[in-house]
Amino acid sequence: MPDATSTGLFGSDWDLQTVLNITNAVYIVAAVLFILGLKRLGHPSTARTGNQMAAIAMLMAVVVTLIDRDIVQVPWIVTGVVIGATIGVVLARRVQMTAMPQLVAVFNGFGGAASALVASAELVREGNAVDDVAAISIMASTIIGAVTLTGSFIAFGKLQGFVTSKPVLLPARNYLNAVLLAAAIALAIFLVFEPDTPAAFAVMGVLALALGVLLVIPIGGADMPVVVALLNSYSGLAAAATGFALENNMLIIAGSLVGASGLILTQIMTKAMNRSLANVMLGGFGAADGAAAAGGSVEQRPVRSVSAEDVALVLSYSRSVIFVPGYGLAVAQAQHAVRDLADVLKGRGVSVKYAVHPVAGRMPGHMNVLLAEANVPYDELKDLDEINSEFDRTDVAIVIGANDVTNPSARTDTSSPIYGMPILNVDKANAVVVLKRSMASGFAGVENELFFLERTMMFFGDARGSVEDLVREVKAL
Ligand code: TAP
Repeated sequence: MPDATSTGLFGSDWDLQTVLNITNAVYIVAAVLFILGLKRLGHPSTARTGNQMAAIAMLMAVVVTLIDRDIVQVPWIVTGVVIGATIGVVLARRVQMTAMPQLVAVFNGFGGAASALVASAELVREGNAVDDVAAISIMASTIIGAVTLTGSFIAFGKLQGFVTSKPVLLPARNYLNAVLLAAAIALAIFLVFEPDTPAAFAVMGVLALALGVLLVIPIGGADMPVVVALLNSYSGLAAAATGFALENNMLIIAGSLVGASGLILTQIMTKAMNRSLANVMLGGFGAADGAAAAGGSVEQRPVRSVSAEDVALVLSYSRSVIFVPGYGLAVAQAQHAVRDLADVLKGRGVSVKYAVHPVAGRMPGHMNVLLAEANVPYDELKDLDEINSEFDRTDVAIVIGANDVTNPSARTDTSSPIYGMPILNVDKANAVVVLKRSMASGFAGVENELFFLERTMMFFGDARGSVEDLVREVKAL
């Protein structure tokens, strides 16, 4: 806190109360901008300005905090901003869309580390003089921040392929984790009473770092997006705890917003996958991911296989088409070709919409981002609730590399791992065309009854090539 004689904000000679009032006023404006920015992230058309509003709010909060506390000289602040902004711009331009979850994982890890380090520095500065609330907050921030750091880097490694994406199931891992957590909490309680005990603090930090590794290592690579969302929430909690340690309102508000929104996102994702958070965190699921594609359990029942010509003919008689994109669209990078096909169809008077399932692909908003990249108009993107009642009035549903999110057995087969997951009612359309390379299963590793329906046509091949063939054929009609 600035002392009573501090000149404070912008080197003026205002009294302490005025400085605090100005700082808090800027904090309130920044907090409102954060909340409005978050709200705008709820739709692709407003997401860009939402992001900008939140970035401006963060800049205001950082600059006012640094000046208010007389922490750093202006040249240092500018140097830090320039270095940070340069790294941010280079990363934002270079990183592929498909690598976004890894990037977010790294950001979360650094966020957790920063909170833990700032909290630790406060302990070093205050020593035994630290009060109880600050001591509890410091311990919470250090434990949560350290778990977030190592957990996020394991998630990054799994997504990037540096660490095996298969679940690593150590014997008695849940007991081991419980023991580590209990030991870290016991040390934290001891440190609240005896803050000036560096050895105990170091051991607590190491236990928390180990816990981060052990919590994430048993989880399959395909579940990492859920883990990243949860760790994002943890990084917010660590920041909020540091805010209590430093008595900084902005940090408490911003940390709480990140903590709450990360938790809501985690909940939306697990609900849309019909999994409980415990089921994800205890690990093991997704171990079979890709097994079927590699030749594991491939379905032998006959299906109706068609050519681009056949599909083009069906499309020539259609008045309404719904595209259903999935993970395969992302793998094939077929979004631009799909947009071309949509344009050709619209040119022939066909109504075109896109059905976007909340967990289609492998990260939140995966399909929205890809389709936005191809400049698909936002008003053609429909989410599950909006589009589901329209399938039975639609001539053709074209499924492009989607599988689990269209599987009708999620409605009826109580033994299916995806039973209860809300799905897109693709099977209700008059005709269904499925674009995929083989009969391999999707992420959940289960057969899809949709492929065997009488009204379903399987158009095998890489999604991008298949859609490009369709564009050619439809144009030639
Ligand atoms: P999936 O069920 O994973 O199916 C994707 C399909 O795409 C596969 O069956 C695959 O079949 C096909 N494919 C792959 N590469 C292709 C290519 N180049 N061309 C054409 N097809 C290709 O995908 P979905 O329907 O989007 O469902 C997502 C699944 O991931 C859900 O189970 C969801 O719970 C899970 N999940 C989602 C998230 C988030 S946040 N979105 C996070 C974790 C897990 P072929 O190999 O035969 O081509």
